Amino acid sequence: MKDVMNLTRFILEEQKAYPEAYGELTNLLLDIIFAAKIISREVNKAGLIDILGSIGKKNIHQDEVQKLDVYAQEVFEKILLHTGHISGLASEEKDDIIPVPPGYHKGKYILIFDPLDGSSNINVNVSVGSIFAIYHKISKGADADVSDFLQKGKNQVAAGYVIYGSSTMFVYTTGKGVHSFTLDPTIGEFILTEKNITIPKKSKYFSVNEGYYHLWDDATKKIVSHFKGQYSGRHIGSLVADFHRNLLTGGVHLNPPTSERPEGKLRLLYEGAPLALIIEQAGGSASDGKQNVLDIKPTDIHQRTPLFIGSKNDVKMIEETYAKK
Ligand code: AHG
Ligand code: MN
Ligand code: MN
Repeated sequence: MKDVMNLTRFILEEQKAYPEAYGELTNLLLDIIFAAKIISREVNKAGLIDILGSIGKKNIHQDEVQKLDVYAQEVFEKILLHTGHISGLASEEKDDIIPVPPGYHKGKYILIFDPLDGSSNINVNVSVGSIFAIYHKISKGADADVSDFLQKGKNQVAAGYVIYGSSTMFVYTTGKGVHSFTLDPTIGEFILTEKNITIPKKSKYFSVNEGYYHLWDDATKKIVSHFKGQYSGRHIGSLVADFHRNLLTGGVHLNPPTSERPEGKLRLLYEGAPLALIIEQAGGSASDGKQNVLDIKPTDIHQRTPLFIGSKNDVKMIEETYAKK
């Protein structure tokens, strides 16, 4: 029988490379995995219970908040805030950073997350995801402060995502390669699917929302025309799903600036930086059109960024085209 590796054992074995480690990062990852299983269960039965649809409010990014956004947010908070592995959270769905409640131990990490990515797609049964990033707490006091969350992406200790698709997968990196695991719902375990994933050098797909064509500058139009001649188009509109497909099959995803949103649409902390670390670990790259996303120093926890992410050659061509404009 082939060796079957589950995610918990994989993480524990990774930790052995650091004999001085106390297991705090391992435990934090296990908390996130637990949250992922609960959210996965709820996403899968969303059509059956009264958990589809919007709550009739908008979040700080002016996105319509879905019931499952609220649910996923609560799961992350309930699981992460009380286990002593972090000293604070920041979420795409919350205006401010979330401190650990009084009376609970504060850990040496902070966690940043997008509880449910692509949530506008949930009502039509399209894949959605959760994205997370872990950093060391760098401020002095016991509680995390905003400076802990405004670190460059290259300071990430770990990053990952969960994709709730035709199966649920957990994909993560601690800076030593990217690994994927598939949830076997009958036993509630994530099982190793692929170790050390690398993005194929030759791209197959480009992915962009062309509905914004009339709001693009000439350089963006030129870039997209270039890809149209070479690759097949695939666009889901759930970042995690678009990213995941390109990671496995080779390709590039574009979320360019528009005249209405020159600052871009995607969020640097919750979406751009974690996926940038993953793609870099898989041999690809991520840019805002000018620089590596991992080198951007955030000034606001809800800052947006243009995002071009995928195969290195494609991202390089995009940067070169913008540089010439
Ligand atoms: P979220 O559901 O977390 O707010 O993210 C939505 C994002 C992302 O998943 C997707 O790539 C992008 O919004 C799509 O935006 P447009 O529909 O404007 O292209
Ligand atoms: Mn998102
Ligand atoms: Mn979201």
